[in-house]
Amino acid sequence: MTDPISRRSAIGLGLLGVGSLGLGVAGVASSGFRSGPWATTAPGGAAAASWSEPTVLASSGGALTCELTVSETQIDVGGSSARMLAYNGAVPGPTLHLRPGDTLRIHLTNGLEEPTNVHTHGLLVSAEGNGDNPFVSVEPGESFDYEISLPDDHPHGVFWYHPHRHGFVADQLFGGLYGAIVVDEEDWSEGAPRIVVVSDVTLSGGAVAAVSDAERRRGRVGEVVLANGLVAPPLAVSPGRTERLLIVNACASRYLDLGGLAMSVRGVDSGAFIPPRAVDRLVLAPGNRADVLVEGPERPTSLVARAYERGGGGMGMMGAVAPEVDATILRLVPDASAHPSPVAPSRDSPRDLSDAHVDRARTLTFTMGMGRGMTFLIDGLAFDPDRVDHTVELDTVEEWTLVNATMMDHPFHLHIWPMQLVGHEGVDFRDVVDVPAGSSVTVRIAFDRFPGRTVYHCHILDHEDLGMMGVVQAR
Ligand code: C2O
Ligand code: CU
Ligand code: CU
Repeated sequence: MTDPISRRSAIGLGLLGVGSLGLGVAGVASSGFRSGPWATTAPGGAAAASWSEPTVLASSGGALTCELTVSETQIDVGGSSARMLAYNGAVPGPTLHLRPGDTLRIHLTNGLEEPTNVHTHGLLVSAEGNGDNPFVSVEPGESFDYEISLPDDHPHGVFWYHPHRHGFVADQLFGGLYGAIVVDEEDWSEGAPRIVVVSDVTLSGGAVAAVSDAERRRGRVGEVVLANGLVAPPLAVSPGRTERLLIVNACASRYLDLGGLAMSVRGVDSGAFIPPRAVDRLVLAPGNRADVLVEGPERPTSLVARAYERGGGGMGMMGAVAPEVDATILRLVPDASAHPSPVAPSRDSPRDLSDAHVDRARTLTFTMGMGRGMTFLIDGLAFDPDRVDHTVELDTVEEWTLVNATMMDHPFHLHIWPMQLVGHEGVDFRDVVDVPAGSSVTVRIAFDRFPGRTVYHCHILDHEDLGMMGVVQAR
C-alpha cells in the first residue's frame, strides 16, 4: 500500500515554487503534455479561454435557499459548443458557499428524460427524509425540495454535489452535472480561494460521447480534462505570493495524479493536515478534494495530471479501452498586478480516533466476476436498495478493513461519516479512500449523531452503477 501523498523534505512555505522541480516539469509540460485533442489552444486556433469560476451562491442569515434545475443545454467547452447536462445552464453548476450551522434548501427540478437526484458529497448531515438521501428519485419533469442542516461544528472544507440516482450516476456526472460546496466562516467579498472543479468528458458530434461496455467496466475516462469547464485555463498569479486552490476531482473515474509544481496541502476531504504537507505529487481519487497552497511562479508553470495506472489494463475480459494520457489542469501565469487569494486559518480535523475504543470490526470485500456480464460486488452482493448490508450502533466507533480482491483499484466512499486512515502518519480523514488492486486498507469511523440509512460504494461511478454499492443503517 502506498501513501497517496509522497512527502518531500519539509520546507517552509516561503521556499515553495522556487525549486528546480517546478521549473523542470514546466519545461516538460510546454514540450509534450497534451490534453486530449485540445492542448492550450482551442480548436480552430482560437486563444485559450481566460480563467473563470462557477457562480457563487452564498448563504446569509443561517440559510441558503436555491434552485438547481437540471437540463440538457448547449455549452461552450474549450472553444467548441456541445450538448451537455447542466445545473442552471452551466458546467460546473454554481458553487454553494455555506457556514457551519446553516440550512441548505435546494429546490431541484428535473428537466431530463430520466430520473435524477442530488447528493451533497462529504457533508456531515442527516441522510433521512429530504436530507442528503441517496434513495430519493426525482422523475422527469418533477421537483424535489431538499432541506439539509449542517451542525454548528461542521468541519470547514471543500465538498461537492452531483447526481446519485442509481443506474444513471456515471452518465449524468460525465454529462456535466457537478458543482462545489465550500463550508467555512469566511466573507468572500474581500477575496476568495480559487475554486478548481476538475472533470473530464469525451465529445463527439457536438454531444457527450456514448461509452462502450468495456469503458463502463473499466470506468470511463474522458479525452478532455476540464478545470471549471475550461481546457487548461490560465490563472494570473503574482510571483512569490501564495494562491489557495480548492480542487475537486469531479471526474467519473479518472484519478488525478497532480504534479508539475510544488504544493502545500492543507487538507484532503474533511481532514486537515496541521502543519500542511509540502509535496510535489498529490493523488486525488475520484470524489476526493484538496485544499492546496501554491506559490506564484516566476514564469508560466502548469499544474498537470499524469496518466495514472489503476490496474485492470491487462485483463482480457475488460475489453479494449483507449489509454489515459497526461493532461494540463491549469496554467499559473505570472502577473504582478494579480490579487492573491486570502488564506483562511487552518481548520480542525474531526475527532482523532487513533486511541479510540473500537466497538466493532468488519471486513468489506470488493470482487469482480463473470455473471450475466461482468459483476461488481461488495461481499458477494450487488446493490439492492431494499437490503441493509450493515447495521451500526449510533455513537460507536468501528474499524473497517476494506479488501480489494480484484485487479483494479477501487476508491471506496462512505456517505455522511468520514473515515480515518489507520497506520498513517498524522491524522488523515477522507470520505473517499483508495483501495489499490489486490490490497487492503483499514479505516476507523465514528458513527456519530445521524441515525438513518445511507450508502457506501466505489466512486468509479460506472462501478457504482454496475452494483458496487451497499447500504448501511445507523440506529
Ligand atoms: Cu460522491 Cu455516493 O457519492
Ligand atoms: Cu458521497
Ligand atoms: Cu471500482
